[in-house]
Amino acid sequence: MNETILSYDSVTKRFGTLTAVDNVSFSVKKGECVALLGPNGAGKTTLVRLLLDFTRASDGAVTINGVPSTNPRARESIGYLPENVRIPAHLTCYRYLMRCARLLGIPPKDAPARCHAVIENVGMKGKENVPLGTCSKGMAQRIALAAALVGDPHILILDEPTSGLDPIGIREIRVILESLKAKGMTILLNSHLLSEVEKVCDAALIIDRGKVLVKDTIAAIVKDGESLEDVFVRLVTARTGASI
Ligand SMILES: Nc1ncnc2c1ncn2[C@@H]1O[C@H](COP(=O)(O)OP(=O)(O)OP(=O)(O)O)[C@@H](O)[C@H]1O
Ligand SMILES: [Mg+2]
Repeated sequence: MNETILSYDSVTKRFGTLTAVDNVSFSVKKGECVALLGPNGAGKTTLVRLLLDFTRASDGAVTINGVPSTNPRARESIGYLPENVRIPAHLTCYRYLMRCARLLGIPPKDAPARCHAVIENVGMKGKENVPLGTCSKGMAQRIALAAALVGDPHILILDEPTSGLDPIGIREIRVILESLKAKGMTILLNSHLLSEVEKVCDAALIIDRGKVLVKDTIAAIVKDGESLEDVFVRLVTARTGASI
């Protein structure tokens, strides 16, 4: 449980004059589930995009299993669920996952079994032939999560996996994440749903305007009768001078 899987070392990302990520350091150990929390524009998605080499750090280093994130080899064991994912309406759940499997280079002889396995993992057994265009938002999100799992990753990066879902959909995603955690998956997730984070994650970072305000275990952050939401609001409003 002590092996470092993801590491951000003094990472800064500037977009012109804007510093989206400001000297951030943290790491995620094998089997940990860590949340990136922060108000809109805090820099959460930018941190994820740095990991996936969709954008590059202005300063500092991001590594995956000790390999720089700029090296394609670093991303071999990562599954990624983007923010506001769009899935093709005309494909069935199974066909979509088969397409993802092909894009990932999974051998054709192995792909059907992999797709059936991830469909089962996300609780969609029996829904293989449902066209994605007729799926509820919760079902569509579970299939998007299945697509992130089809390459059999060891690390899962989720950018707001419960965004726009109803309480049932949110719970379904939580149950899936708990079962993945139980199997040893390392998870980094962005979320605004603090009550869910409190239930699922081991640790969290609270970020505001690129700066880390807190990084600790959930147990250490949530104490003295304060919820994660209380701590979040207290720290973020203290910085902005706002009051609620
Ligand atoms: N490609 C880009 N070019 C210029 N500015 C960018 C770019 N990507 C992000 N930013 C800016 O960087 C800051 C951080 O954005 P980011 O998307 O990482 O925030 P976030 O924490 O994910 O927010 P949200 O909760 O709304 O998803 C914002 O001010 C955003 O406008
Ligand atoms: Mg974001």
